[in-house]
Amino acid sequence: MSLMCRAGYILFFSAVLTWGMQTHQASAKMTGPCSNCHTMHSSQNGGSMQFNNTAKVERNLLRGDCLGCHGQGTAQKIVNLNGSQIPQVLHSDPSGDLAGGNFAYITGSKGTASDSHGHNVIDLGAAFTEKVLVNILPGGIRQSFHEDYIVNSSNLTCAGVNGCHGYRLTAGTPTGVDAMKGAHHNNVDGQLLVADTPANSYRFLVGVKGYENQTDKWQNVNASSHNEYYGATTPMTLGCSATSCHGSMGVSPPNHTISGFCGTCHGNFHTLSAGASDGIGPGITSPFIRHPNDIVLPASGEYKNYTTYSVEAPIGRTTVPASASSVVTPGTDVVTCLSCHMAHASPYPDMLRWDYSKMNAHQSGDINTGCFTCHTAKDT
Ligand code: HEC
Ligand code: HEC
Ligand code: HEC
Ligand code: HEC
Ligand code: HEC
Repeated sequence: MSLMCRAGYILFFSAVLTWGMQTHQASAKMTGPCSNCHTMHSSQNGGSMQFNNTAKVERNLLRGDCLGCHGQGTAQKIVNLNGSQIPQVLHSDPSGDLAGGNFAYITGSKGTASDSHGHNVIDLGAAFTEKVLVNILPGGIRQSFHEDYIVNSSNLTCAGVNGCHGYRLTAGTPTGVDAMKGAHHNNVDGQLLVADTPANSYRFLVGVKGYENQTDKWQNVNASSHNEYYGATTPMTLGCSATSCHGSMGVSPPNHTISGFCGTCHGNFHTLSAGASDGIGPGITSPFIRHPNDIVLPASGEYKNYTTYSVEAPIGRTTVPASASSVVTPGTDVVTCLSCHMAHASPYPDMLRWDYSKMNAHQSGDINTGCFTCHTAKDT
């Protein structure tokens, strides 16, 4: 073999190697034929091409809206549609739910129906609009420029200006897939450090950093297989003169944490006191006036005993890891909103991760559950 040939040979091999690596990376994104998800004319043999068989026509030539794909109501938490894996947020799978939770606890297609079980997004339909927190945003900060609760039970939706996923821009008030454009085909998995588009943000939540479980996609399974939430050692201080959540990407948390994200709507439950928000109090030391989040779990007292990650009361990391860890480090890891709440809906009131009415002080039996995961000395 001549030298030239040999060089070509090596080039060929490295090309195969790079190609192999690229396909491996791409396989983390959604796969399957276009026709799984798209329809060119929304008609086949004169009939509907929508997953729910309606005459609706969707933007981006899709065969469904968010719930059309993600809320198919089957007994599977991940639907395998002819080679495309679609994570489900409204289903009756008895084996469990994905990490975000399950809107079926609101509709009653799993467990007992209750508005208090979660976010009653209007996408669930008129039958399931919130009937208790009507036109209220609990913890919402009311300021001169926030005359009223802009996002509330009458408009809360999956994505866009009054939603959580995609760009939350007011210009043109894009909603649904309009606010997501490009996210699905460019989805970045694993460690998300950039967070400046929906695609490279944690779960398409613009501006949120984190680590998406690669072992069991979209799930928090056990101490070693789970997502990693990004947190900070001090919550944000919001206000006219301080940090604002409104930027060129629309509304997003300036501190990039998951609690800061919840705080973009429920500001008073996250922030330090400033202006119209009294938040958790003036600082990051006890006494607090609301349960703190984005503060460090002390490396002393009862908190030092929380050392093995619990998917029942997950903590946040102040550095986005490249993999999931089963170790909790008091003194470093932090409390997040998701330490106590689910994001979509849970089987319990206030969308909690556990039944709060069963948390009894100094009564044995529930060690390491719920509140006691951190408050280890308040049980026995
Ligand atoms: C598993 C489902 C799925 C499959 C398969 C799929 N798409 Fe999509 N596609 C989507 C969704 C959902 C959106 C809209 C939301 C978004 O952009 O994030 C979309 C948006 C698009 C868009 C507009 C946004 C962009 O990223 O450019 C184009 C163009 C597109 N798809 C083309 C294709 C083509 C061509 C194929 C086949 C090679 C295909 N899609 C296969 C789900 C799918
Ligand atoms: C045509 C079907 C389809 C529609 C419509 C659709 N999705 Fe998806 N979605 C998918 C598929 C398939 C995946 C899995 C993507 C992957 O494997 O990377 C996905 C993934 C996601 C994820 C997880 C991303 C991650 O980080 O892993 C989120 C969040 C999401 N979709 C939100 C939405 C929202 C909000 C809407 C409505 C605006 C929507 N989707 C509309 C098919 C769809
Ligand atoms: C886009 C605004 C918005 C964001 C972001 C948001 N929420 Fe909400 N949330 C609402 C609204 C509006 C309600 C009242 C309507 C309802 O309960 O459905 C609500 C209600 C709630 C409730 C009470 C549920 C009930 O019915 O009792 C909890 C708990 C909650 N949110 C927690 C969170 C957490 C945790 C996050 C972050 C993961 C978060 N929220 C992010 C708008 C938001
Ligand atoms: C992820 C860990 C974690 C979980 C779960 C948790 N807490 Fe806490 N809690 C903390 C930390 C950290 C502090 C602040 C400790 C400090 O700095 O003094 C705290 C403080 C408190 C305080 C005292 C506030 C003050 O002013 O000092 C109360 C009361 C409290 N938590 C109740 C609860 C209850 C009730 C639950 C269950 C609904 C719960 N916590 C769940 C970590 C947690
Ligand atoms: C330590 C556990 C814990 C943490 C952390 C926590 N919550 Fe809660 N949350 C609760 C409990 C328990 C309730 C039930 C009401 C109460 O006790 O005040 C609740 C209630 C709520 C409600 C309903 C209030 C109403 O008026 O019905 C909302 C909204 C909410 N939480 C949002 C958040 C947000 C946003 C964060 C993070 C910024 C957060 N929570 C962090 C435990 C927690």
